Amino acid sequence: MPLSLQNKKIIISAGASGIGWTTAKVCLSRGAIVYLCDINNKSLNKIKKHPLTNKKLFSYECDASDEDEVSNFFNQIYKKTKKIDALINNVGVAGPTGTIEKLNSDDWEQTLKINVISHFYFTKLAIPMLKKNKGGSIINISSGAGIMGFPLRSPYAASKWAVIGVTKTLAMELGKFKIRVNAICPGTIKGDRMIRVIRDKAKFLKTSKKKIEKDFISMASMNCWIYEEDIGKMCSFLISNDGEKVSGQTIPVDGNATRMD
Ligand SMILES: NC(=O)c1ccc[n+]([C@@H]2O[C@H](COP(=O)([O-])OP(=O)(O)OC[C@H]3O[C@@H](n4cnc5c(N)ncnc54)[C@H](O)[C@@H]3O)[C@@H](O)[C@H]2O)c1
Repeated sequence: MPLSLQNKKIIISAGASGIGWTTAKVCLSRGAIVYLCDINNKSLNKIKKHPLTNKKLFSYECDASDEDEVSNFFNQIYKKTKKIDALINNVGVAGPTGTIEKLNSDDWEQTLKINVISHFYFTKLAIPMLKKNKGGSIINISSGAGIMGFPLRSPYAASKWAVIGVTKTLAMELGKFKIRVNAICPGTIKGDRMIRVIRDKAKFLKTSKKKIEKDFISMASMNCWIYEEDIGKMCSFLISNDGEKVSGQTIPVDGNATRMD
């Protein structure tokens, strides 16, 4: 029996494709009501055709790294509900690939802005709604690069370690309100993002994409790809009543990745 999320209200940032959209679908299939935003209008238009749109699925255009746009997104949600059960801070970009001497400060700043500071915008506005609900769950999507070093991706690693620091701190600040805060660290996910990451790394190292792909998969003891659904199911567990005592944790979903190189 899949876990029930019947009528649980969930906000997801960057939810119109990739892990965010798959997680939205997992939650919807378990009875949740989902409010998502994304910067990509094309992806948003595609999901507007979903049969649950305007019933249990509400989607909005919003650049997660723009505080005014995030505030607008929450204003739209307030018109529908004052309380929520969960926030999934999913937004995050891969950032540039290269050794530190080859990276520029704009790329560094942009990666930290999207991957860390935008989580702050969402979390700040979600906390009052979670308090009104008398508890709930915040899930921050970090990465294997938030628990290990990740050569050639220093800004990404810095941002994902920052997400863990915020998670641990918030779990301590919000425990007394029965708000649980956890970080999920996805491994190598089969999807569009990894196609781009493999392409960029192969180009930088002047090697084949096949070799880079094989290397990535071999980083997990289980020698496997991770699927977007695996992350959606972990989110679902953490939001469900079965996860009600789990807080402050860093949870890898990665087939036991032991290195990232
Ligand atoms: N894909 C992986 O292998 C992997 C591994 C570890 C962690 N992660 C993390 O999981 C999360 C989701 O990753 P993904 O692979 O699904 O991402 P993705 O690159 O496929 O993008 C998902 C969505 O983010 C949206 N987006 C990008 N910038 C945005 C912005 N400023 N505002 C609003 N929306 C924006 C895109 O339009 C897209 O719809 C990220 O935080 C990522 O760092 C991914």
